[in-house]
Amino acid sequence: METLRHIVVFIHLIGFALLFGAWAVEAVNRRYQVTRLMNWGLLIAGVAGLALAAPWGISYDLNYAKIGTKLVVLVIIGAFIGIGSARQRRNEAVPRWMFWAIGILTALNAALAVIWR
Ligand code: HEM
Repeated sequence: METLRHIVVFIHLIGFALLFGAWAVEAVNRRYQVTRLMNWGLLIAGVAGLALAAPWGISYDLNYAKIGTKLVVLVIIGAFIGIGSARQRRNEAVPRWMFWAIGILTALNAALAVIWR
């Protein structure tokens, strides 16, 4: 069970890497768009995160305040990606603040994960 949990944490990290990496590529290339890979990363991190939110394969208590906060942040990121891609389909630009918020909130969730114990 413990090994399985570690594998799910690994999948969770792949989702985070895809989401943050896809966002960083757009930021560095000054395209300020949302992409399909961001959606995939969010979906993978979200599904694996929900699986990890249940207390299996561990001998310590989970920090549910932290997990709840991360879930709220994930829903906000999802809303921004959704609004952004709807605008792109109408050939409109993603508001610049919304693009930056996607990356900053993703980094915030990773920071919460490792700093808030
Ligand atoms: C963009 C969204 C997210 C990012 C960037 C993210 C990032 C991370 C990272 C970097 C870790 C590893 C921390 C460590 O092992 O010390 C982690 C662990 C974890 N995440 Fe997330 N996460 C996200 C969303 C979520 C969501 C939505 C949930 C649950 C509703 C969640 C639940 C968890 C749990 C329970 C762990 C601990 C796993 C364990 O130690 O057993 N995460 N997350």
